[in-house]
Amino acid sequence: MKVPAFDITRQHYQLENQLESAFQSVLNSGRFIMGDEVKLFEEKMAQYLDAQFAIGVGNGTDALTLSLLALGIQPGDEVILPGFGTFATAGAVSRIGATPVFVDVDLSSYNIDPEQIRVNISDKTKAIIPVHLFGMSADMESILTIAREHKLAVVEDCTQALGTTFDGQPVGTIGDMGCFSFFPAENLGALGDGGMVVTNRSESAEVLRMLRVHGARRKYFHEMLGLNSRLDAIQAAFLRVKLPYLNQWIQLRRKIAANYYQGLHSVAGIKLPFRSEDHTYNQFTITTPKRDELRNYLAEKGIETAVYYPLALHLQPVFAQLGYKGGSLPVSESLTRRALSLPVFPELTEQEQSYTIKKVREFFDRSNESITKQLQ
Ligand SMILES: Cc1ncc(COP(=O)(O)O)c(C=O)c1O
Repeated sequence: MKVPAFDITRQHYQLENQLESAFQSVLNSGRFIMGDEVKLFEEKMAQYLDAQFAIGVGNGTDALTLSLLALGIQPGDEVILPGFGTFATAGAVSRIGATPVFVDVDLSSYNIDPEQIRVNISDKTKAIIPVHLFGMSADMESILTIAREHKLAVVEDCTQALGTTFDGQPVGTIGDMGCFSFFPAENLGALGDGGMVVTNRSESAEVLRMLRVHGARRKYFHEMLGLNSRLDAIQAAFLRVKLPYLNQWIQLRRKIAANYYQGLHSVAGIKLPFRSEDHTYNQFTITTPKRDELRNYLAEKGIETAVYYPLALHLQPVFAQLGYKGGSLPVSESLTRRALSLPVFPELTEQEQSYTIKKVREFFDRSNESITKQLQ
């Protein structure tokens, strides 16, 4: 049996007619940049998240970059973010000339550790970026408490967590801004790149709408330096077809996760991800000291897995000048050696789930047997 880590063609097969008519409608409209399609999708997203403003942009990285610019983050300012995660979060901070300050994460949620935020605040700190990694919310209550105490902005990186909640509130609407990506593998994926910022701050929404079109409120009159970062009309149309299915897809992800928890909880040698009703399981990421052996074994059996992430952000070559040393963020670094993401996407069949569970169990049964033999 072959089990893919992710296969979006299964989703598109089910929605083929609707996606084709969305394509046809945009084709016939002749309007490919901004326009009604983008506006309608922005409205639907604002409704879905119960946010006041939603601003479509080119991708998740730009959503972060534009949010930081809209908040007035300047070169030399420090922005605190987790050391374990996607490069894009750190890249957005550095790209605008600010300094990323990497802090360690919590071993069970894989998310930024609020206590580590506290001890890394300096006079230059201006913002915190909690990343809701793999679909699990960061501890927003503690983060907001710290942010209020120190008057720091909070930009939520929700790229992997559309539909995730924290104490019932959708992530992205808790801090000052919420940044989303519609990269095909996210909970809601476009047929290409796409992104969005949501906020309840009307001044910030206005600035963001300008920043995505080179800082112009009125065409040809530029009041600030921004980017060219717009959500394509065609992607907005595809995303509007898909959005009504999002909750159903999230329930399917949760069901798969429940099967994994049930099938794997008794396996000695692995730690399962933090279990929470708020989690949307964009990834189901386990940890084990035998990560690479398990990955190879599963690959031999036809099961594709993913390693998110093999190198922590503070140790990326591009950040060498920041002076972080190996060992400075021990939890993040340990996760880069131990984390393994099992297949999880709404259309993963029950047979594929059972087969994956069986093969993971088989790997640990065999390796535990061989340890017992060696000890005898
Ligand atoms: C945590 C995180 N932040 C930011 C991004 C960037 O999103 P995009 O690829 O749409 O630029 C990603 C994308 O994978 C991500 O996982």
